[in-house]
Amino acid sequence: MTQKKKSVSGHGSKGRTPATSKHSRRSSASNICQDSPHALETARRALAAVADEQTSILANSIVGICRIRSRRFIWANDRVVDIFGYELDELLDRSTQLLYLSKRAFLEFGKIAYPMMKKGEIFDGEHKFRRKDGAVIWCRLTGRVVGEDPTDTIWVIEDVTENKLAEQALRESEQRFRSLMDTINDWVWEVDKDRVYTFCSPACQRLLGFEPEEMVGEMTPFDLMAPTEARRVNKIFCRHMKRKTPISDLVSINRHKAGHEVMMETNAVPVLDNRRRLVGFRGVDRDVSHRARAAAQARRHEQEMREGLITAVHALSRTIEARDPYTAGHQNRVAELSVAIGGAMGMTEDELRGLKLGATVHDIGKIAIPNEILTRPGRFSIEEFNLVKTHTETGYDIIKDVELPWPVADMVRQHHERIDGSGYPKGLKAGRLRKESRIIAVADVVEAISSHRPYRPALGIEAGLAEIEEHKGTRYDAAVANTCLALFRENSFAFT
Ligand SMILES: [Fe+2]
Repeated sequence: MTQKKKSVSGHGSKGRTPATSKHSRRSSASNICQDSPHALETARRALAAVADEQTSILANSIVGICRIRSRRFIWANDRVVDIFGYELDELLDRSTQLLYLSKRAFLEFGKIAYPMMKKGEIFDGEHKFRRKDGAVIWCRLTGRVVGEDPTDTIWVIEDVTENKLAEQALRESEQRFRSLMDTINDWVWEVDKDRVYTFCSPACQRLLGFEPEEMVGEMTPFDLMAPTEARRVNKIFCRHMKRKTPISDLVSINRHKAGHEVMMETNAVPVLDNRRRLVGFRGVDRDVSHRARAAAQARRHEQEMREGLITAVHALSRTIEARDPYTAGHQNRVAELSVAIGGAMGMTEDELRGLKLGATVHDIGKIAIPNEILTRPGRFSIEEFNLVKTHTETGYDIIKDVELPWPVADMVRQHHERIDGSGYPKGLKAGRLRKESRIIAVADVVEAISSHRPYRPALGIEAGLAEIEEHKGTRYDAAVANTCLALFRENSFAFT
């Protein structure tokens, strides 16, 4: 607020002046006046200078100063005029009631302030007033009685509206923050750089059973986790602290105060000081236990569906073996050897499960071949052999629409293919054959040669292995063939 150059005027403007300067100057003036008329004049001038100086100080004060008697303005400085927006002559000798928001507020203030000041105390408080332009302002008032008359008072007035509005805005903002924190289901937190909680919203009680007071200054996020989980999450946390990067969708398993597990998803940002040094992290945790439960249930459901399909495929496969006693058990033995080869070649557990299923049903297409042909002793005619060869495509057609996580239909279709393209039904070469098909092809040949067939007696394992040995790298995949040979010759593999 700019200071206007106005003189202070009004009744009773002989206000009290600072005791030290007044007394010392008066004393020197009275000594001078005893000496001569000239000295008296000098003394008068000195006193006038003192009065002018004091008046100037009051007039130019950065706080409002006024004298009020019987609750009417006696005099006021320029700052009072600035604060309330009235001209000086609109204030002087007027009741101060014109500045209050209501007559009631005027009377209430009088009841509080004047009894205090009457007892010799200084009144110090804040109050709302209305400026001439209608604006409501907050003023800090400091007042005291200045003479014998208890209604004769001097006041210092400061406009604290800006502070008051800032305080109010801060209060409202804090209230908004608190009600938001109380309302949201997610847990809002802050930790310092030692990862100790510095703030926890009330949701932590709802989600984890701990009151904010139990956590702030006392616990770290890792106190809520089992040791292994705490180590895992701490490692991730440390990485983000070091890089000062946000943490996104970090899922962790926390322990509720009551002992059960709560799966939480964390999103957090680093908190940096003005020199970009890390001072902590601020984040939001959400209970995603229901999501984990739903995912587990979906996995279980999918597993059950898959098991159901596998069971159905097995049942279908067994019907072929029931029709064809000579090949009974052939598919299971091929599966046994295939899994042994696949395992030795480093296939994963999941791949081996698929391989086992494919091998177990590889001849499923024979269901479409007349039983007389399959079970008749003696060699097939060309026509019969051509018919038998269709079992690979028929098997593919049976399996292809069953939703399985492995390429079982391809394994079935490709089990008579040879890597040099001499097989059937497509004459595919090595690069186009699945690894599982190349394994089943070898296992199928070894098992078929070594076992009894309607058209010939069992030739034994060695005959089967000799076929593989002879054609490895041409008909049969060399790596698969070598693994198969090693299984029998070095690892004593035997069909059960
Ligand atoms: Fe076959």
